[in-house]
Amino acid sequence: MKDNGTQENQKTLGLLDLVVLGIGAIIGTGILVLTGIVAAQDAGPAVILSFLIAAVASGLIGLCYAELTTSLPNSGSAFFYAWVSIGNVAAFLAGWTLIGVYVTTTATVANGWTGYFSSFLSELNVHLPNSLLAAPDKGGIINLPAFIMVLLIAFILTRGTSESKVVNNILVGVKLLIILLFLVVSFRDINVANLHPFYPYGVSGVFTGASAVFFSFLGFDALATSAEDAKDVNRTLPLAIVISLTVSTLLYILVGFVMTGVLKYKRLNVSEAMSYVLLDKGHVLVAQIVSFGAILGIMAVVFAFIYAGSNIIKSMSRSKFLPETLATLNSKTHSPNRAIWLVGILAAVLAGEFDLHYLALISNVGSLVVFFLISAIVIIMRKRYPMLERPFMVPGGTIIPILSMIVCLVLLVNISLNAWLTYLVWLLVGGVVYFLYGRKHGDSFTSDDYDL
Ligand code: ALA
Repeated sequence: MKDNGTQENQKTLGLLDLVVLGIGAIIGTGILVLTGIVAAQDAGPAVILSFLIAAVASGLIGLCYAELTTSLPNSGSAFFYAWVSIGNVAAFLAGWTLIGVYVTTTATVANGWTGYFSSFLSELNVHLPNSLLAAPDKGGIINLPAFIMVLLIAFILTRGTSESKVVNNILVGVKLLIILLFLVVSFRDINVANLHPFYPYGVSGVFTGASAVFFSFLGFDALATSAEDAKDVNRTLPLAIVISLTVSTLLYILVGFVMTGVLKYKRLNVSEAMSYVLLDKGHVLVAQIVSFGAILGIMAVVFAFIYAGSNIIKSMSRSKFLPETLATLNSKTHSPNRAIWLVGILAAVLAGEFDLHYLALISNVGSLVVFFLISAIVIIMRKRYPMLERPFMVPGGTIIPILSMIVCLVLLVNISLNAWLTYLVWLLVGGVVYFLYGRKHGDSFTSDDYDL
């Protein structure tokens, strides 16, 4: 199949590279920040079951992604798949949703980062006033560190990313090390009595928790966008999705278990739960190391998501659904600077002015809608293009795609109305943009161009 304006395949990524890439994008604010908050507010110690449910959901969706990315390798992700299989309106709304998802995910991750950043500063006796650390609905004026950090990373991205495998590997290594350090040091502080009651908010709390911690698994879809670069893609990509999800799930469940075992769940309602737990038990140096590692590790996730968001904008602009000027590459750095600044500025404002939990839920609504669509598209593509070469096919006919759609619906139903309404407003704005611009200018998909 011909490529949609992207570069010739280089096929440089092996299985290990893909696993590192996956873990790099997946592990971040979800585990480091949300675990404590979700345990305190939604699920109690049963947060580990919430993680398990979210992991199964991610696994099913991941397999559907693998079929599409290996048969239609393109960095436009859901936008491109919907364009090929359904039509322009669906493609535009899928792409628009994805832009919203990547912006809110970046904002959530950055927002959570501030907890570790300020905890690290205060361990060095530097104290920032609450008004500059918290969003207005948390009693502050702006979350300034998050705001600045997002803009800083957007700036760095506009200088061109020579995606250095070495730097990425180091950051992923740091993330894994601090999580292991936390587990080893805190394991001895577990007091089994803290794990009772295990279900303080009942089974519905476990599902509400699953909808929230689903955020911790976002990023496996980022692997999908590397299909064009993967060696032996039909074997390595599905395997990499499964391995990175399995490693993340194991770590998440262990961290959830240890956190709620060391401190009563009600006390975990803080955004730097790992270092909070360590400090409470007197492990000051370890808490500093963990905070510092979290600061670096979480920044890497912000990097990945601004980059992914700008890629979607670039892809939509190339097909003329958004002004083509947004796809312009900088002549020196070859980076789509306008798209990067657009994502960066939007995400910085959201990170500065909104609450973490709320942002994470909005990001989850959008992601789950896209994942529902991805699962449906697997079935539609099989009907519409039965002869398309599929290097990897989800086993068991349509059972897994259907299960995946059901799981997305169950998780979607458990997300609060506020988050839904916010998403619908975003969709409405998208509808207006489509009506005023995309409908007139957007290219229609022609299968001749793609040898389908
Ligand atoms: N899964 C990513 C994180 O938890 C978005 O930071």
